[in-house]
Amino acid sequence: RIAGPSGLVIFGVTGDLSRKKLMPAVYDLANRGLLPPGFSLLGFARREWEDQDFAQVVHDSVREHARTPFREEVWQQLADGMRFIPGDFDDDTAFKQLRDAVDELDEKRGTSGNYAFYLSVPPKFFPKVVQQLKKHGLADAPEGSWRRAVIEKPFGHDIASAKELNAIVHDVFAPEQVFRIDHYLGKETVQNILALRFANQMYEPIWNRSYVDHVQITMAEDIGIGGRAGYYDGIGAARDVIQNHLLQLMALTAMEEPASFDAGSLVMEKLKVLKSVRVPADLDAHTVRAQYGEGWQGGEKVKGYLQEDGIAPTSKTDTYAAVKLEIDNRRWAGVPFYLRTGKRLGRRVTEIAVVFQRAPHSPFDGAATEELGQNAIVIRVQPDEGMTVRFGSKVPGTSMEIRDVSMDFAYGESFTESSPEAYERLILDVLLGDANLFPRTEEVEESWRILDPIEEHWDTHGTPARYPSGTWGPAEADDMLARDGRSWRRP
Ligand code: BG6
Repeated sequence: RIAGPSGLVIFGVTGDLSRKKLMPAVYDLANRGLLPPGFSLLGFARREWEDQDFAQVVHDSVREHARTPFREEVWQQLADGMRFIPGDFDDDTAFKQLRDAVDELDEKRGTSGNYAFYLSVPPKFFPKVVQQLKKHGLADAPEGSWRRAVIEKPFGHDIASAKELNAIVHDVFAPEQVFRIDHYLGKETVQNILALRFANQMYEPIWNRSYVDHVQITMAEDIGIGGRAGYYDGIGAARDVIQNHLLQLMALTAMEEPASFDAGSLVMEKLKVLKSVRVPADLDAHTVRAQYGEGWQGGEKVKGYLQEDGIAPTSKTDTYAAVKLEIDNRRWAGVPFYLRTGKRLGRRVTEIAVVFQRAPHSPFDGAATEELGQNAIVIRVQPDEGMTVRFGSKVPGTSMEIRDVSMDFAYGESFTESSPEAYERLILDVLLGDANLFPRTEEVEESWRILDPIEEHWDTHGTPARYPSGTWGPAEADDMLARDGRSWRRP
């Protein structure tokens, strides 16, 4: 899988995402030999830069963030195809210049008219950028080549705005030209959910309501909002990551086997899950949202959310969210899926825990097995990528005492190959036109259908709970599970 002749244009090239993820990913792809020799990278932003200044910024970003070693010859080859277009999004001259640059690179570096436009800009600029691409003839591919649009979240802030945004984008680009990024789908361990479930025989027979008690999906971060107040405030944890990353993880965990691994079949199965998701009727009892207060993290005292720069002291934005969802289908009826996420939690960890029912009967002495937890399969998405199976085992000795033990699979121990970064995989897929790992319009809208009533409830009822930074979230979230006779796993 090596990309054919092509180029990538990044709008918003001065942003964090571009510097930390996109530029290094392009370099790493080139370094792994997955880009064509004439690959070209164009940046568009409101800066007084020349091509060399842009190349210097990319260079610094690669030096700081790339995964693969720096190799001068790879860099030179890539740098020769770098162009910078200074301008505003409503600046016609800049878009003409972009067009000329594309023509020039087609000729000089053989990009063959194949271009992806990466919109790494706030959604309010989407309409302008796509209209300009259309107006300047950049959205329509010349005969025999392709043009694609890559869009970063947030895909709206509710179903109405998502539909509006989709309409604007699809007015210019056909559905098969649009690639929506959910970078979680680019992670190795997330793709491995499919391998685990559908390439093996031993998990699938028990992966259902007859054996599973409940599922917990956790995405915990130790960081706060950093310098992202402008984006984060008013959006909050649920919109930021439950609407996309966590619902995608849930869909992959719960879906049926797709007919094949093409994009259409995969989307169809994920969509069936999302459509079957039932939002709890009693939202007070089955959802929790909270804000971090000050506390200690990594031995340092850290600010509370309301004290962060750029946050109003009256903000009600959630930095933690937990919801209980059910899936109304034959496989999962009655099995709760608990989703939680938060900033400034105990540590950074993302995992999916499938927790099994207790054995229906124990022939062993009750007292000796009291400590025994439930069997579980834990897919460790990050940072310690792998899988754990938890089960009970006899403690060595003369009595029949049984205790929980675990069996581990760790990527680092089983494979020598290093994992590509999520953005590497996704950018390569865009260049290859492989839409498998990109959520479709319908999935985005269905996910908002699930989240909208919850957000609406939070807007009109009460205020966020509190949790000290560096802890595992508010007591209210523990109560939510305790009411069901369950507790959160401590990763
Ligand atoms: C992004 C969110 O989508 O994912 C961020 O907007 C979050 O708030 C980030 O920090 C986490 O990504 P990762 O890959 O570090 O788990």
